[in-house]
Amino acid sequence: SAEVDNSAKDEFQELLQTLERQTNWDGQRLVKYEGFWLLELFFRPILSAQKYFKAKGTDVILSTMPKSGTTWLKALTFSIANRNAIPIDQSPLLTSNPHKVVPFLEFDLYWGQEDLDPERILDPRILSTHMPLEILPDSIREAGCRIIYLCRNPLDVFISNRLFLLENRFSEDAVLLELDEAFDRLCQGIHDCGPFWDHMLGYWNAHLKNPERVLFIKYEDLKEDILSNIKKIAEFIGSPFSPEEEKQGVVEQISRLCSFENLKNLEVNKSGNILGLVKNSSFFRKGEVGDWVNYLSPEMVERVKNIMESKFQGSGLII
Ligand code: A3P
Repeated sequence: SAEVDNSAKDEFQELLQTLERQTNWDGQRLVKYEGFWLLELFFRPILSAQKYFKAKGTDVILSTMPKSGTTWLKALTFSIANRNAIPIDQSPLLTSNPHKVVPFLEFDLYWGQEDLDPERILDPRILSTHMPLEILPDSIREAGCRIIYLCRNPLDVFISNRLFLLENRFSEDAVLLELDEAFDRLCQGIHDCGPFWDHMLGYWNAHLKNPERVLFIKYEDLKEDILSNIKKIAEFIGSPFSPEEEKQGVVEQISRLCSFENLKNLEVNKSGNILGLVKNSSFFRKGEVGDWVNYLSPEMVERVKNIMESKFQGSGLII
């Protein structure tokens, strides 16, 4: 009822007022929740997802920090999971941006009036999120969903993110911080989904504890050897490639369909946009490892290296 809605609204407003605030370097508002900096814009949808999302055991959750290769992981996992239901030459990825094909839990299911109804998504549901493990809806853990975490060198993520936000300009009147100031915030952990080291460590530790439930992969490894990683994902989600499929070259077909070159050059990804806010083309910039070398000084690189050494010490995680 309206009364219930209003009381939920008040609760939300009250909670919001207690949270520490910052701005992202592009001017978007951040709030600190459970130790993580989240865009205020998505705070309410995140809380709604926590409260209302009913996970099923067959769900596959793709988790990433923004700009770690989410688009690629969506395309790959969708193609692997649906390879028997949809012939590759009829893949919806050929006519829709991967973000249309695989929805985000917090943005597509719980953001606005016309949200997608999670009950209407066909099984196995593949859903994506940028939420840290600690903030995921409890039902995901309780249902025993499989989670695939993709991480990427934070220097590449930083540059990719900066160029993405410059390309799309979410807040027009925002004062954009210079590269070195923005970088300083990254090092302080003050950025969307930051601190990056806590985001990565949360999933890394969950993977160590329960490798059958949490797969941890790196963008750099996908770039180095996509075929064995496609097989790894297929095994992880419980549908390994048969020797017959391998002989027919299905793994290679999926790799080609989801490749940067192929997706980037599709008409839909050259022209369309999402909600009039984000250009489809902005998800396909360069797709390389180590592009940071063109933007960051050796001192900056050293600083992040030192942070990672101290934060990841003893964890076994090497990025
Ligand atoms: P760059 O900006 O370094 O090029 P996300 O999908 O999480 O938003 O991340 C976007 C980054 O992944 C961009 O990195 C983009 O070019 C890269 N990317 C997108 N699709 C890719 C693909 N199919 N293969 C490899 N990289 C891809």
